[in-house]
Amino acid sequence: MTIDPRQPRALYQVMQERRSIRRFTDQPVELALIERLLLAAIWAPSAHNRQPWRFVVIQDNGAKESLAEAMNAVLRSDLAADGLPFDEIEARAARRQARLTRAPVLILLCMTMTDMQRYPDDKRRRAEWTMATQSVALAGQNLLLAAHAEGLGACWLCAPLFCPTVVRDTLGLPEDWQPHAFISLGWPNEQPSKQREPLHTRVRFLN
Ligand SMILES: Cc1cc2nc3c(=O)[nH]c(=O)nc-3n(C[C@H](O)[C@H](O)[C@H](O)COP(=O)(O)O)c2cc1C
Repeated sequence: MTIDPRQPRALYQVMQERRSIRRFTDQPVELALIERLLLAAIWAPSAHNRQPWRFVVIQDNGAKESLAEAMNAVLRSDLAADGLPFDEIEARAARRQARLTRAPVLILLCMTMTDMQRYPDDKRRRAEWTMATQSVALAGQNLLLAAHAEGLGACWLCAPLFCPTVVRDTLGLPEDWQPHAFISLGWPNEQPSKQREPLHTRVRFLN
């Protein structure tokens, strides 16, 4: 099971040039390419090599619409409880709807605790849960980098974290698959730029 990179690019360049892409052309993404990205994802490190990631690849427009509708019902109720004005709630719901339905592909990143270590106490259970989350995030980063190396655009969308049960039920997923994020994917239709804070503000060297 090898990845077969056809467009090898220097890793550091891929890491620095990758940007979150939120606008895509209508051009579809072929399945073989999506599979190559998923292969890159599963070569991420994971705690005890238990590979707690699960993926759902969504290209069907009807499924995207159903998801957006179900997730927006939760968003509307959460924002109404926050006291946001109706117009603002609807603007946010419309933006969410566009993000989810205009991406040619959505990859739902899920996490399962099924194969992770089991502990009797909360402290170690929480640590194990965090390790599973970290493992899934690393798979997600592999996927983002592979997408960029292939010339695709991608963006991590955190919305499923706020309504995991609705996402799982809408897609009919197994009980133990906990939805964590979407990665929206397609051919890029924008070239955003982003900066980073200087390294010295984020690091301490103890020499
Ligand atoms: C955990 C996580 C959650 C994110 N959630 C969202 C999101 O819900 N919507 C969105 O447009 N971007 C989201 N992003 C993308 C970030 O906004 C983006 O990575 C950041 O602004 C830096 O930009 P860059 O990725 O282009 O370097 C998320 C990124 C991460 C790592």
